[in-house]
Parts: sequence; structure tokens; C-alpha cells
Amino acid sequence: MLADALLFVVTRLISPKSRSGSVRDAIGLRGRAARHRAAWSEHEARTRAAIDRAIDGVAVRRTVVVLGSGLLRDVPIDRLSSMFNKVVLVDIVHLPTVRLKVLLRRYPNVTFLTRDISGYDRLAEQSRIKLATGQDDLGVRLDPLGFLRKIDDVDLVISANVLSQIAVGAVARLQAKDGQARIMPDDAVAQLVAGHLDGLAQLPCKTVIVTDVSYVRRRRDGVVVETCDLLHGVTPPFPSDTWEWPVAPFGEETADEERVHRVISAEDVAVDL
Ligand SMILES: C[S@@+](CC[C@H](N)C(=O)[O-])C[C@H]1O[C@@H](n2cnc3c(N)ncnc32)[C@H](O)[C@@H]1O
Repeated sequence: MLADALLFVVTRLISPKSRSGSVRDAIGLRGRAARHRAAWSEHEARTRAAIDRAIDGVAVRRTVVVLGSGLLRDVPIDRLSSMFNKVVLVDIVHLPTVRLKVLLRRYPNVTFLTRDISGYDRLAEQSRIKLATGQDDLGVRLDPLGFLRKIDDVDLVISANVLSQIAVGAVARLQAKDGQARIMPDDAVAQLVAGHLDGLAQLPCKTVIVTDVSYVRRRRDGVVVETCDLLHGVTPPFPSDTWEWPVAPFGEETADEERVHRVISAEDVAVDL
């Protein structure tokens, strides 16, 4: 508890622009990942394997970008650092523990980019303009991954278990006091999910996405008590692999229920026109 509080303070000092909720989430994720190391290991290994396959599919390896690099648990950072000239880790918050790991392991070509990749603020801005002008269609894309165009020589972009979290974060912001829910469209979360997939599809380089797409909450007798579409109605890309991730094994949330997520991986993300 004390260690988490200290980590919170240090992270806020190092990254004053990071939202406190995101820092809290990152520290919470660190705790859950440690508690469920065994239960999560297959998911993490299969994520790394999907990324490894994508790396093998890239002939020229200059810059690789990892979206949602988080704790670097499901990202094969050794391989990325040794095989690419440059590795850019993008996340809404980078915990100092992760920065320290990168420093201690001496990855000279790894850099951190702290950024909200959801497109939420842009969607709010577009919604405000639409309301002010009465225009329904501004004729502009959300383009949440447009910042990638400013990074030179990108040959691979990895979306590493971040898409569902973009939706979770957007739902939380819509429910928060300053979330501008009044002006946001009813399908705001779906637009952000679609915006991420569209952003990946527009990239002129190889892409790979790993994301959980849904979950079921199950009792010990196997009866499903809840199902949830984590992509808010948006069709996921055609998967090359799928598996289950016991995010909350029995006892994590309630003694008699587990929450198990369905995960997909897909290369060369494309969206239906
Ligand atoms: C399930 S974790 C991914 C785990 C990570 N790939 C790893 O290897 O440890 C989701 C990550 O997405 C990040 N994230 C959530 N919403 C984000 C946003 N809007 N922009 C950027 N990163 C976000 C979180 O901070 C977290 O690190």
C-alpha cells in the first residue's frame, strides 16, 4: 500500500501532465498482474508470440512503435530493441518502475512517449464545432494516430492490449464531472474504438493488434451471469489467433465468480469500407 502510494507520488512528479486516474489504473494493473502472474502468463506469452510473428514479417526494421506499452509484460522488448534501430513506447502513463527497467537493461534505442491515444479530446472538440456551426459532418477524420506521421521511418506499429482500455477510459471520462458528456455523441465510445482501428488501417507500414474484445462473468458451476462487448459494437479485425484471458480469476472481484476475456490478435489491420 505504502509502496503504491510512493509510486503514485513519484509518477505524478515525473509526469505532471498524466491524469491521476490513469496513474492509479497503471499502479492497479501492476498489482493485479503480480497477483495473477500464473493465470495471466498464457495471455502474455500469446501476445508476445503474436508480436514476434509480426516482427518476422517485417523485412526492413528501422523504427517500431508500441501503443499501450504499459508494464512491458506482454511486449517482447528484448527482441524489439535488438532487432529495430529505434523503439518508441507510447502510453498514457509510463511508471517510473518501467523507465528504470529500460534504463537498467540498457536499451539505448528505446524512448518513451507519454500520450493519450484515444482521440477523446479531439472528438470533444469536433462535437463542440458541430454544435456551434450546426454542421453534421465536418469532413475530417478523428485521426487519433496521426502523431505517428511525425515519427521517422516507422516499419511496424504494435497495438498491445490497449484498445479495450481506450473504451474503458472513455466511459470513465464520460461519467466524470468534466467529461463533457453533454456535448459528446451517443456513440462516442464506438467512434473512438473505430478511430483506433481506422488509424491503424491507414498506416503505410505493417501493423499488429492484440486486444480483448469481450468478456463473460462465470460462476463456479459454469453458468454465465454477464457478457460484455468491450468494443461497443465495433467489428474487430479478422483474427489470426484467439484465446481466453482470465483477467479476474475467482476471488479477485467476488469469491464465486470469475471474469474471463476473449482476446484476438490480427496483423495488417484493415477496416471494411
Ligand atoms: C492492459 S494494459 C497493456 C499491457 C502492456 N501492453 C504490457 O505489456 O504491460 C493497457 C495499457 O493501455 C494504456 N492506456 C489506456 N488508455 C490509454 C490511452 N487513452 N492512451 C494511451 N495509453 C492508454 C494503459 O496505461 C496501460 O498501460
